[in-house]
Amino acid sequence: MVATATAPMVADTTDAVVDIRGLSKTYKLMMGKEIPAVVNLSLEIRRGETFAIVGPNGSGKTTTMKILLGLLFPDAPTEEQEGRVLVFGRQPGDPEAQTRIGYLPEAPYFYEYLDGRETLDYFGKLGGVPKDVLKPRIEELLRMVDLQERGADLPVRVYSRGMRQRIGIAQAMINDPELLILDEPTNGLDPIGTVQVRQFILEQKKAGRTILLCSHLLSEVEAVADRVAILHRGNLIAVGPVSELVPESRQWQIVATSLSREAAGKLKDAGLTVETHGDVTTVKTDNLDAVYQAVALVSDLGGALVEVTRPQSTLEEQFLKAVGEETLRRTVDTLKKSAQKK
Ligand SMILES: Nc1ncnc2c1ncn2[C@@H]1O[C@H](COP(=O)(O)OP(=O)(O)OP(=O)(O)O)[C@@H](O)[C@H]1O
Ligand SMILES: [Mg+2]
Repeated sequence: MVATATAPMVADTTDAVVDIRGLSKTYKLMMGKEIPAVVNLSLEIRRGETFAIVGPNGSGKTTTMKILLGLLFPDAPTEEQEGRVLVFGRQPGDPEAQTRIGYLPEAPYFYEYLDGRETLDYFGKLGGVPKDVLKPRIEELLRMVDLQERGADLPVRVYSRGMRQRIGIAQAMINDPELLILDEPTNGLDPIGTVQVRQFILEQKKAGRTILLCSHLLSEVEAVADRVAILHRGNLIAVGPVSELVPESRQWQIVATSLSREAAGKLKDAGLTVETHGDVTTVKTDNLDAVYQAVALVSDLGGALVEVTRPQSTLEEQFLKAVGEETLRRTVDTLKKSAQKK
């Protein structure tokens, strides 16, 4: 996707574009059933920041975004929970804030008989974009999402899933927003489309826009986000800069094959951590001297060295670890409570 030239104008003095404190949202179903979708969530998104929410299905990502847009109402504040949600210092849904936001929904809805150009024209008029600005912007956006040649004159009804996603992204940009809210922006895109979206996000970030995105594709988030919030069942379980959530692993990994069981035993005897899976032996250590020792031992013991690496732990691993810890904590809490009742 091609960068758009316009940089958003910024009028506020405050640095927090989004300010959430003690936000909860419980869906109330029939028969009195309640689904806690977001639980006592607090976070702040600063001007110019690319902020990502990651979490498994049903963790509350879309609900949080819809609350910011004023499409859903949060639970009423309580004594314990402030229930404060401000976007550009205003209540969600306030027209002042709304005109400064671009939104790509999870499942964008279009008028199927309008073509790409007409679709953008429709959303532009709806968003109050002045006529003289709208026309060139539509062409610029069609070019940006690669729909100018194929798609601009086709009804959305015949669009592929990826083309729908692209026109959805263009639609989110039609009002030249200061805050872009993207719900799973790579949804339905092929690998090239995914890379293009990543580039698009980086370009919008460079242009000074504040971006809130959510995704299951943690690798996508890792590449573009300044800070990440990890949600699990509506609970915030970690938030911080990507560099903090994905610390460089201290561990070296030495992989070898063709080592006998006795030879693997000798590596263990030398005080190294050894794992064996079939013919593959992996030695893990955080000590560089032990790396040299292991490499020499592998060779002495008749093994074949495959690689010596120092892998980075991915956000995915961090996420699973965090979720694992959360699940464990809940289990312990439940057990404690049931023990207290007895
Ligand atoms: N309209 C609704 N009525 C009742 N419950 C809902 C509604 N929308 C969402 N929920 C529930 O709220 C929880 C959070 O849903 P939400 O859509 O916010 O999750 P998500 O993180 O966006 O998930 P996904 O990754 O699948 O898009 C889920 O348990 C879901 O079942
Ligand atoms: Mg969702």
